[in-house]
Amino acid sequence: MKHIFQKGKNPSKPTLLLLHGTGGNELDLLPLAERIDGEASVLSVRGNVLENGMPRFFRRLAEGVFDEEDLIFRTKELNEFLNEAAEKYGFDRDNIIAVGYSNGANIAASLMFHYQDALKGAILHHPMVPRRGIDLPDLSGKSVFIGAGTNDPICTPQESEELKSLFESVNAKVELHWENRGHQLTFDEVNAAAHWYRNN
Ligand code: MLT
Repeated sequence: MKHIFQKGKNPSKPTLLLLHGTGGNELDLLPLAERIDGEASVLSVRGNVLENGMPRFFRRLAEGVFDEEDLIFRTKELNEFLNEAAEKYGFDRDNIIAVGYSNGANIAASLMFHYQDALKGAILHHPMVPRRGIDLPDLSGKSVFIGAGTNDPICTPQESEELKSLFESVNAKVELHWENRGHQLTFDEVNAAAHWYRNN
């Protein structure tokens, strides 16, 4: 997968896995990594799917309607890429925190829904429920920050609450943070995520 790796000053810190939103690329979220932990290694990945020229992490059939088969395939592909990248760059595979926005948050949530040890934790900015009706792995010891908007038309407040409940039902520790905004990622939300990271 097309990506950027930046080795951090402190190898005991987690590696931040950056996952952009629809139409973004691996450069977009680099300022977030700096804000969250300037000493951590960063692996920023570009989604392998194109929708009208816009990079994404998996196909969708319509706005908010996921191509489930492709989601499963792309989740596996990303998980395997993480295994390869950890070996190639020599970072701890068991200490990855994802930082995703929108479509990137959805594939991060999907990694956790499908693979118990894919991530140590995740900062999910405006995620949706990636899949319903499947058994989730036990996520004891994993921490998740969900940044949501009270007026987000894409990731509705109900869906944000549903995602929180699903994670909690398999023992993940979840903080749901609200902004009185829509789908956009705000400075305040990034600050709240950075604060959460420091306390977890
Ligand atoms: C998705 O397709 O993952 C969601 O609709 C969010 C987005 O617009 O990327």
